This record gives sequence, C-alpha cells and structure tokens, in this order.
Amino acid sequence: MGRSVALTPASAPIKRRYLSMEHPYWPLFNLRLRSALVEIRLATDDDLTDLASLAARGVHDSATMPFLHAWTDEPSPLIERGLFQWAWGHRATWRDDAWKFNGAVVVDGVVVGVQDIWADDFARVREVKTGSWLGREHHERGIGTAMREAVLTLAFEGLGARAALSGGFPDNAASLGVSRKLGYEETGRRTVTRRGEAAEVLDLRLTRASWLEHHHEPVSLVGLEECRKFFVGDAIA
Ligand SMILES: CC(C)(COP(=O)(O)OP(=O)(O)OC[C@H]1O[C@@H](n2cnc3c(N)ncnc32)[C@H](O)[C@@H]1OP(=O)(O)O)[C@@H](O)C(=O)NCCC(=O)NCCS
Repeated sequence: MGRSVALTPASAPIKRRYLSMEHPYWPLFNLRLRSALVEIRLATDDDLTDLASLAARGVHDSATMPFLHAWTDEPSPLIERGLFQWAWGHRATWRDDAWKFNGAVVVDGVVVGVQDIWADDFARVREVKTGSWLGREHHERGIGTAMREAVLTLAFEGLGARAALSGGFPDNAASLGVSRKLGYEETGRRTVTRRGEAAEVLDLRLTRASWLEHHHEPVSLVGLEECRKFFVGDAIA
C-alpha cells in the first residue's frame, strides 16, 4: 500500500507565507514597471494561463501576420501550450549576458498582453530589442504605447541603454504607430519570410538622444536594484 502524505495544518501557514511574500530567490519576479495606465511584471505561471486564453481568443486579424514566427497561426491547444514553453524557456536560460524578459501587461488588474524586452551582452553593447502583443479586445486604447514606454524607461533610465531596436512590417500600422510616437527612426529594410512568402520588414532604432528629447509618461521601476545584476552582471549601469 502506498504511503499517504497528509497535508498537516503546520504546512498551510508556510504555503500562505510564500503566496503573499516577495520571491526570495528570483528577484525578477518582484520587479514592477508602473505607469498611470499599465503595470508590467515578469509573467508568472498564473499570468501565462491568462495570456494563453487571451492569445487563443485572438491577437490580430488573421488576414495579416505581424510576427516573423507565425505563432498565432497555431490552433488551440497548441497556441496556449506554446506560450508556456516560450516563457519557461526564457526563464530557464536567463543569463546576465543573454536575457529575455517576458512582461505580463496588466491594466486595472486584468492581464491584457505581453511586452518583451531582451538583449545580448547588454553590459557592453547597451542596446535592447522589444516585441509585444495585446489581446485583440485591448487594441487602440493607448496601451501599446504605454507598455513600450514602460520597458524603454527600464532600458534608458534604469539600465543606461544607448539604443532600442524594433521592427515591423509596413502593413502593421499599430506597431509602427507606437514606434513613430516614441521617436524611432527607420534604419533600413530587409526581406524575410512571412507565412512562407518573401516580405519586407522595416528596421527601426530609437537612440538615447531621441528618447531624452521626447516627453514620456512617468514610469516607476519598483524593485530594480535587487535585480540589476540580472541585467548587467557586475557592470555599473
Ligand atoms: C502593436 C500593438 C501592441 C499596438 O497597441 P495599441 O494599444 O493598439 O496601440 P496604441 O493604441 O498605443 O496606438 C499607437 C498608435 O498607433 C495608431 N494605431 C493603432 N492601431 C492602429 C490601426 N489599426 N491602424 C492605424 N493606426 C493605428 C494609433 O492611432 C496610435 O497613434 P496616435 O496616438 O498618433 O493616434 C497592438 O496593436 C497589437 O497587439 N497588435 C498585434 C500584435 C502586433 O502587431 N505586435 C507587434 C509585432 S511587431
């Protein structure tokens, strides 16, 4: 007969303690990028569950494909499962010289999308890249701009970035609209494959000087000091 493991009353307070506490070992989970409209945090497994159902409900018009990797073409439940593997992969392989922060975007307590920021050898190169999506029901309310602004504040003001790179297909007016508003400039065009066909993509760059010239909504970077080394190693940002 197998041994049954009783959940003793003594174990309950321990579980509750960790639910309400800041994460003791992985301070990236405690980081909060907060503006008047959005809060961004490293996506937890609960956030991923919300994001998975949001993604399955639709991220964009299926007649177009805004992503280089056409993940939104996957049928359910592969789209949901893929989202977990994608985020778990980045958590598991995080290094201070190669990181990708998958931010859950929260508006009024509701998870509405993802804002990613990533870099290779950030301590020396000082450049970041970003990518994002919102559930379709949350488009065109200024959230896309606010969430990009939040991670750019982390990059330029929190970590001392010199530039931020982005890109977009010419038919992605919303993504290009966000970049234009925040001061990115086109640096070139490339041909890539999109849904198996050749397509042109615009490369965009936002310099530190241009970031500083533009007005931005205030964003507080809560808990950054405790996880600074996760982004820059031993370098001083
Ligand atoms: C890209 C995305 C995150 C933008 O978020 P959003 O909240 O809809 O964007 P905002 O409301 O902040 O709008 C930013 C600007 O783009 C414009 N814009 C937004 N949607 C637009 C559309 N469908 N057509 C034309 N312009 C649009 C807005 O008018 C705004 O400019 P303005 O303030 O000068 O009027 C969102 O549309 C999205 O998730 N799209 C699908 C996924 C995607 O394309 N990801 C990016 C891949 S590169």
